[in-house]
Amino acid sequence: MQEIQPAGTEKARTVSSMFGRIASQYDRGNRVLSLGRDQAWRRIAVRLLNPAPAERVLDIGAGTGDLSLALAKTAGSVVALDFSLPMLEIGAAKVFGARIPVSCVAGDALRLPFPNESFDAVATAFTVRNLAGMERGFAEIFRVLRPGGRLAILEFTRPGSRLVSAVYKPYLSLVLPRIGGRLTGDGPAYRYLAASINSFTTPKEMGALLTGAGFDGVRWRLLNWGTVAVHLGTRPGAPARQRGAGIHA
Ligand SMILES: C[S@@+](CC[C@H](N)C(=O)[O-])C[C@H]1O[C@@H](n2cnc3c(N)ncnc32)[C@H](O)[C@@H]1O
Repeated sequence: MQEIQPAGTEKARTVSSMFGRIASQYDRGNRVLSLGRDQAWRRIAVRLLNPAPAERVLDIGAGTGDLSLALAKTAGSVVALDFSLPMLEIGAAKVFGARIPVSCVAGDALRLPFPNESFDAVATAFTVRNLAGMERGFAEIFRVLRPGGRLAILEFTRPGSRLVSAVYKPYLSLVLPRIGGRLTGDGPAYRYLAASINSFTTPKEMGALLTGAGFDGVRWRLLNWGTVAVHLGTRPGAPARQRGAGIHA
C-alpha cells in the first residue's frame, strides 16, 4: 500500500494523522464508548443495504475493517478504502480470512481512485462526519455508483429529543473525551470526536444533502435513542444491463 496525500485542507491532514495515532486502540475505544453496541449498528446498516451475492461493494473510510467484514458476509466482493495506512493495515489483517476476499485500497474519499459507475453499492460508517467536504464526498459516491446502485451511511447524528440531548451532551463533552483519552492515551482525538458529533447535522439536514447530491428515495433509520442514524439512498436510473431491455435495433 502506498502513502497517500489527502486532498486539500488542514482538516484532512489532521483527521488522517489522528486516526494514525489511535489506530491500535481504535476498536477497543469503540466497544467501550458504545457500551458494546457499535458492531450491532454496523450489522443493521448492512442489513438495510442488503448487498447481494453478485454485488461489488465499496466501504469508504473502512478503517480497521469492521464494516467490511460485515459486508463480506453477503456481498460478492468488497473494496475497503481509507487514507490512514495504520488503520487500513489493521483492517487488512482482520479481513484476511473473511468469507470472500476484501481488497484494501489506500485512497481519498474526496478523490476516489475508481472509474465511474464501478460499484453496485457503497457503505460507509462513522466517516462522512470526518470529511473535509461532505458534499464533495457525496458527489464522488454518486459518480462511482452504477445507476440503480445503493448507498448506506452509518453515522452519529444530533438527537431530536430534548430529554436525550440533556443526557447525551454532557456525556459527549465530559465523559467521552475522558474515557477515550484514558483508553487510547490520546485525549485530543476524543475531544475532536465529541466536538465533531456535537456540531454535526441532524438526520433531516443529512437527508437534504443527499437529495441535493442527486440521490433518490433518501430515508433514514434512527438507532440508539436517535444518536445514530443509517441514511439510505439510490442513484437514479436502471442498471445498464436493464436500461436497454425491450429495445431492439
Ligand atoms: C471513525 S473511523 C471509521 C472506521 C470504520 N468505518 C468503522 O466503522 O469503524 C473514520 C475513518 O475514515 C477515514 N477517513 C476520513 N476521511 C477520509 C478520507 N477523506 N478518505 C479516506 N478515508 C478517510 C479515517 O482515516 C478513519 O479510518
